[in-house]
Amino acid sequence: MKVHLVSGGCGFVGRNMVKRLLKTTNDKIFVVDDLSVGTHPSTWIENFSSKIFKDIEIIGSDERIYFWKGDFRNILFYMRQNPTYIQSEYNLKFERFSNVFHFAAIVGGRAKIEGDPMMVALDLSIDAEFFYWICQHKPERVLYPSSSAAYPIDLQSTDYAIALSEGDIDFKKNLGTPDMTYGWSKLTGEFLAQIAAKHYGVSVTCIRPFSGYGEDQDLTYPVPSIALRAARKDNPFEVWGSGKQGRDFVHIDDVIDCIMMAMDNIHDGSAINIGSGKLTSFLELIEIFSKIAGYTPEIKPLLDKPVGVHSRYANMDYVNNKYGWKPKISVEEGMRRVYEKALERLKNE
Ligand SMILES: NC(=O)c1ccc[n+]([C@@H]2O[C@H](COP(=O)([O-])OP(=O)(O)OC[C@H]3O[C@@H](n4cnc5c(N)ncnc54)[C@H](O)[C@@H]3O)[C@@H](O)[C@H]2O)c1
Repeated sequence: MKVHLVSGGCGFVGRNMVKRLLKTTNDKIFVVDDLSVGTHPSTWIENFSSKIFKDIEIIGSDERIYFWKGDFRNILFYMRQNPTYIQSEYNLKFERFSNVFHFAAIVGGRAKIEGDPMMVALDLSIDAEFFYWICQHKPERVLYPSSSAAYPIDLQSTDYAIALSEGDIDFKKNLGTPDMTYGWSKLTGEFLAQIAAKHYGVSVTCIRPFSGYGEDQDLTYPVPSIALRAARKDNPFEVWGSGKQGRDFVHIDDVIDCIMMAMDNIHDGSAINIGSGKLTSFLELIEIFSKIAGYTPEIKPLLDKPVGVHSRYANMDYVNNKYGWKPKISVEEGMRRVYEKALERLKNE
């Protein structure tokens, strides 16, 4: 029997990964999430049914999802005390986890990253426990999501911004300063991933997603919240900062595709970008959505809101040339999907 582990499996990326694994495999999936941000599987699993077994929920008529609600660090602790804790506790017959996807993290949008950086720094403790455990358990493959926030911020400023390439982070050279405690924890995580691969022989893949978005993303993120404001035909249209700051938006379906491709090819803890390679400013994003909504709003900049770096976008040459991978969903197509969802949200308000 193959069993995959998805930490943070009820969050945005995690639940999209769980749904993908349900669709493309017949394996069991052990999901861990404390639901601090994520939503219970009953809100995103089709034809949801579950039964309680000890402290977990076994989900679906085919009983493929085992959901344990709690702090990932606690179950890592139990597994450290007893390496076959999960197998014996939940009658699961497997030797080691197949794929381990580690999405449990304190993320949040800009407001969280700048508003409570010390809370975000707790990611260091989650990741340290996680890497310590994988070096003992040795799953078949491990995915560590780093972030574009790990890149040096001086390459993303108003005066100087470049398309960020994988080589702009090089642990053999001087490293730049990443974006707040969030970026520091991701950079540290990448370093630990390389140690786990090199010193402990674990297969680890790192990814640096840029701005992932999708229909089911939380409204604290800019894309779904801008879509909702356009669907409401807000006028004036509020934007954080001048709106000239830009990001590289990539649809979650493409992010999941790229993760699967990366895990088949990268085992040494090194990282690749996941982006579109295109810089889109927030003003352009508003233009895309208001065009779909069929009106031309007046823009109202909110200059006291946190905006982060000026321009953050990926150079996708390495991924394109080496692996022949490109995102399939254009920004226009992806945003149209998010807009449809925003209309649905409005109807249900
Ligand atoms: N979404 C993106 O575009 C993006 C970009 C770059 C990196 N990433 C990385 O991908 C990962 C997932 O991001 P996301 O967008 O899905 O965030 P998210 O906040 O939607 O998901 C994180 C999940 O982890 C859970 N969680 C937090 N702390 C926990 C703990 N101690 N124990 C158990 N569960 C816990 C939350 O409840 C949530 O469900 C993160 O590591 C993030 O840094 C995401």
